[in-house]
Amino acid sequence: MNYKIAVIPGDGIGPDVVGEAIRVLDAVGARFGHHFEYTKVLAGGAAIDAYGQCLPEETVKTARAADAVLLGAVGGPKWDDVPGDQRPERALLGLRKALGLYANIRPAMVFPDLADASPLKPEIIGSGLDLVIVRELTGGIYFGEKGRRDTDLGPAAYDVEQYSEMEIRRIARIAFDMAMKRRKKVTSVDKANVLESSRLWRKTVADVSKDYPEVELDNLYVDNASMQLVRNPQQFDVILTSNLFGDILSDEASQITGSIGMLPSASLTDGSFGMYEPVHGSAPDIAGTGKANPIATILSAAMMLRDTFGLLDEADAVEKAVDQFLHDGFRTADIARGQGRVLSTRETGEKIAAFIGA
Ligand code: IPM
Ligand code: MG
Repeated sequence: MNYKIAVIPGDGIGPDVVGEAIRVLDAVGARFGHHFEYTKVLAGGAAIDAYGQCLPEETVKTARAADAVLLGAVGGPKWDDVPGDQRPERALLGLRKALGLYANIRPAMVFPDLADASPLKPEIIGSGLDLVIVRELTGGIYFGEKGRRDTDLGPAAYDVEQYSEMEIRRIARIAFDMAMKRRKKVTSVDKANVLESSRLWRKTVADVSKDYPEVELDNLYVDNASMQLVRNPQQFDVILTSNLFGDILSDEASQITGSIGMLPSASLTDGSFGMYEPVHGSAPDIAGTGKANPIATILSAAMMLRDTFGLLDEADAVEKAVDQFLHDGFRTADIARGQGRVLSTRETGEKIAAFIGA
């Protein structure tokens, strides 16, 4: 089969890690008889430098015409002085909206071979940690009305948090469907003790849950949820939450695994199309040094194989190759902690690709 992938390397270590994910995809293609066709386009700082805008129309068009998008990371200090509506990060928001990617899936798991990397005590991590955050990605305060106005207290600024029932319903379905394939528990996170939008959120989620009698639904306020994540993270299976709360909680969740350089993510719409990217950022300080860990992007490519292309054995092969890499004692700089054999970005990609070919 032939699969069309729009590739957006982005800024900083983005091109480094995306290059290795492509190497691994090519190894998958060679072993299983698929052809992956890549079209590289620019977004973020790289696009600002080349075209004077962070998200050129060409990039959106190429992404729309592809079966899936593979993205590295965008942003860096070089573009700190660019006006807010043209910052590299705006390219991400623009892509999410233009492509209708309303469901952001961010798994946070502890890899058995890296269990001691978590900053939490062993008795809290217990036998492991395996949760997934389902974050609404095209609504809420990120996309609500915003502006400046004069008030009695002087000049002010505002950003509106708004959710329609439809938006809540469709993201809730994604979370419940996912829970059905996992440990059958959804924790919906809101601030219903204060926010009207959260009260609609909670009521709508309860409504959707009636279609999933096997799934246990728990509601937590976001302040409590952030505390529970470090107090007892094992209680979570699927966390369902809004755009802003999901942004915050997913950083917290990834950090408690101790290996943010390892975590993939998917942004999905109805149907099979998706955009896949590592959870980590562009780390401009180590760009081009060979220190970046490409595994999060490689595992994002595995999610692409499974969720967009329906290639289950191929996705398993990538994940198994990563497990073998770790199990054999190979490490990248960020997860080495003085142990194992430290490989560069490129050597890591080559090693994982070789395990797939084997
Ligand atoms: C993320 C990032 C983005 C977000 C930024 C870069 C706009 O933090 O994907 O979590 O806030 O959604
Ligand atoms: Mg974030």
